[in-house]
Amino acid sequence: MEALPGLAVAVPDPVQNDVLPAHRERVTDTDPAAMKRAVRTVYTLFYLSAAFSIWAVAAYMIFPIEDGRVTSIRHNNLFIGLGIALALLALGIGAIHWSKAIMSDKEFVEPRHATRGRDSTREATVAAFASANEESGFGRRAMIRNSLFAALVASIIPGITLFRGLAPQDTPANPRGGDPVYLLSHTMWKKGMKLAHDPSGIPIKASDVTLGSAFHVIPEDLAKLDHSQGYLDQKAKAIVLLMRLPVDALHPAPGHEDWGFDGIVAYSKVCTHVGCPVALYEQQTHHLLCPCHQSQFDVSHGARVIFGPAARALPQPADRSR
Ligand code: FES
Repeated sequence: MEALPGLAVAVPDPVQNDVLPAHRERVTDTDPAAMKRAVRTVYTLFYLSAAFSIWAVAAYMIFPIEDGRVTSIRHNNLFIGLGIALALLALGIGAIHWSKAIMSDKEFVEPRHATRGRDSTREATVAAFASANEESGFGRRAMIRNSLFAALVASIIPGITLFRGLAPQDTPANPRGGDPVYLLSHTMWKKGMKLAHDPSGIPIKASDVTLGSAFHVIPEDLAKLDHSQGYLDQKAKAIVLLMRLPVDALHPAPGHEDWGFDGIVAYSKVCTHVGCPVALYEQQTHHLLCPCHQSQFDVSHGARVIFGPAARALPQPADRSR
């Protein structure tokens, strides 16, 4: 239909109201005795629920947990748990029965109506905004408005700056720990540091690393730190996995041929996705699996990513002095 100028066009509602099926009467709608029975069942269940709750409180006192007695813990948990579980069960069954058998199950249709406000309401709202703008001078006084924006943005900056204070303090293991850039780009590893078992700190000999084995490794000096000296922070960065593969199974990237020793290779255990420890090694396939989001790394090919959300290969430490 062609709209004539000046005439409103009624747009049909694209979503039609559903037509409900005819209401089916339940037994309790037609038989007063059945309704009475249903009411009785529901309040009995509710009272039962109350009784079980009281029983749970009583069980707490009747079966106290006594120091060192496992049976007392077992009895306490069993009887309190039973009381609470049965109370909730009775309450739930009662509520469902109430809604299904007693409450009205008639469905009603409320026709949709236009959600658009009346023209007069819309005009009044626009006028209210315009007058608020006029009275405050927000739109007119550009200097005030711009300086307000500048002040608001600047007010956030001190809060952001304070985050820097969250960086760890200097410790013997991390003499510039207060410098976050240094902190994020350095670990305890340095030339000559021995690879040691995690967590004992006992150095590992190459002959210990048998074919197919995988060792969780820390820098030898880490075991000498205690928690107040940043042990966990350092460990989180420096943790390494050490594995021995058949030499012919290794396919290092060009230029990385000497980044291992006699089939022994080491890779950071910190997943390149979001930093979980990559702790599962499959010696048959030479794959490392990160349990957090299932990234998989192929140790025989420079620990490149073969599956999962990680985007980069695991870092490989190398003795570049050779
Ligand atoms: S942290 Fe390893 S896959 Fe997400």
